[in-house]
Amino acid sequence: MPEKNIRLEVMKAIEPQVEGFMDSFLLPVEDIWQPSDFLPDSEKDNFLEEVKELRGESKELGYDFWVTMVADTITEEALPTYESWLMDVEGIDQHGENKRNGWAKWVRAWTAEENRHGDVLNKYLYLSGRVNMREIEITTQHLISDGFDIGTDRDPYKNFVYTSFQELATNISHKRVGLMAKKKGNALLGKMCTIIAGDEMRHHLAYREFVKTILGEDPSGMILAFADMMKKKIVMPAHFLRESGGVIGAAFENFSNCAQRLGVYTAQDYIDILRKLNAYWDVENLRSLSEEAEKARDYLVKLPARLERISERMKFPEDQYRFKWVEANGMI
Ligand SMILES: [Fe+2]
Ligand SMILES: [Fe+2]
Repeated sequence: MPEKNIRLEVMKAIEPQVEGFMDSFLLPVEDIWQPSDFLPDSEKDNFLEEVKELRGESKELGYDFWVTMVADTITEEALPTYESWLMDVEGIDQHGENKRNGWAKWVRAWTAEENRHGDVLNKYLYLSGRVNMREIEITTQHLISDGFDIGTDRDPYKNFVYTSFQELATNISHKRVGLMAKKKGNALLGKMCTIIAGDEMRHHLAYREFVKTILGEDPSGMILAFADMMKKKIVMPAHFLRESGGVIGAAFENFSNCAQRLGVYTAQDYIDILRKLNAYWDVENLRSLSEEAEKARDYLVKLPARLERISERMKFPEDQYRFKWVEANGMI
């Protein structure tokens, strides 16, 4: 059977389980937190005092912090790109004979949860008074317009490897930003980022379960897809990031350096995520693989140690590139 058809068959075979995945890993709309739970309530008379307090607390946070927070927000705000990309994946079908395709339902419900992240962060940034909202909005519009290419094609296996990896990466970075905010006495922002990180963790657990389930159906195909993604490297969803007047992707490297310097998301985190995925999918002990897949398995098992050796030699520039999103007088 051609490779593509196997993937479609596997996606169809797993589809009846997707509803159960939604129950286990997503929360009911009526119960889950909303941005308003964390932000000053504009219906209340003390709204302006609360905003004042928020702005006061924001003063303690430095330039690198805001750059990272802005880039995280913009990454979340480019959600339309991710939803349209996933809807186009083989086996995820919002049209077709069965309009109630479980995978399409999953993508919509996942998007609906994700949508709250950009919403709450954007409103917070706007109220904080520490960032240039117009520049941020221009970057966001560019990013959605530029789209992305994460090297997964329409392959569900590769896409689920990507999302398993990426959801954990965002969990780490939101969690660290939250901790930093808390340390500087900004309890509200700390809470907000921590609760976003909690969503990302649930999503990570779901996607890694999708992969595990696929491994049960088509271990060779799945492991080849995993190895292929790691050979290409997992690029961040905002890898096309640019500022006003800039070219596609120009701002991304500067942002990565910033996140690395701040310790919000580092080369070591990348390796740790890979180790965790290898362990959960028990890659080392996968048997009954094709010859090619056995090679892919061995490559994946050795990869973390190899990346450790490379990362020891990596250097990150100390100088602070000046983003248009954050005023230079906010530099610490
Ligand atoms: Fe998110
Ligand atoms: Fe996410």
